[in-house]
Amino acid sequence: MDSLLKAVPATGRKAGAHGHDGLFITFEGGEGVGKSTQIRLLADRLKSLGHAVRVSREPGGTPGAEAVRHVLLDEAALESFGPALEAMLFAAARSDHVEQVIRPALARGETMLVDRFMDSTRVYQGVSGDLDPGFVSALERVAIHGTVPDLTIILDLDPETGLSRAHARRAENTAQDRFEKETVAVHEARRTAFRAIAEAEPERCRIIDASADPETVGEAVWAHVAPLVTADDDDEAPAT
Ligand code: TMP
Repeated sequence: MDSLLKAVPATGRKAGAHGHDGLFITFEGGEGVGKSTQIRLLADRLKSLGHAVRVSREPGGTPGAEAVRHVLLDEAALESFGPALEAMLFAAARSDHVEQVIRPALARGETMLVDRFMDSTRVYQGVSGDLDPGFVSALERVAIHGTVPDLTIILDLDPETGLSRAHARRAENTAQDRFEKETVAVHEARRTAFRAIAEAEPERCRIIDASADPETVGEAVWAHVAPLVTADDDDEAPAT
């Protein structure tokens, strides 16, 4: 069983339960749940404790994957390409990101915080797009090539609140992407799908109520991350 929590040694650098030395944490959830704020808070906290942290997002993270992001999410891409093509494009971007950025960072022992990863494809293309689960998991296998997150934080929020947050953010920023424009029912289905993933993979996933203020949510996130990063400190604890 590849539970990171079980694999963390009592002392020393946490073990890479999935075959890497660093720590790989992904953030998932619907629109406007506060992933980027939480990633920033966690990155700052980890850096202040002396950890080497790298932050990235999907689709994106490499020049090639950012180009795919542009194709998929740019204002001009107002129409859906169909879920199968989308899933393949997200997978192509993910594969590049994993090979060029995530895997090398983990090999150097760094902590990688990524805004969306494989669960977003499972939910947005797999469930919302009604794709064959076998097709989605085959793409996932190729794209991640064994690089499974040690921890996935799923920020859970009712879609009405999330969408109004996302709209407020876009008002000062850019236009909505077409995923944000979908109906509340679609967003509800995604929320249910993210929860189902967490239920199916409790060793990897943690659901966090994202309705509170960012600091409170940040503490809830930290409660799940701290056990994975404090192993170093145990080395320095005086023997009693
Ligand atoms: P975000 O950067 O605001 O999270 O937007 C990314 C959008 O792309 C979001 O609506 C979810 C969507 N998306 C997918 O549909 N599938 C994927 O695999 C990923 C990574 C994102």
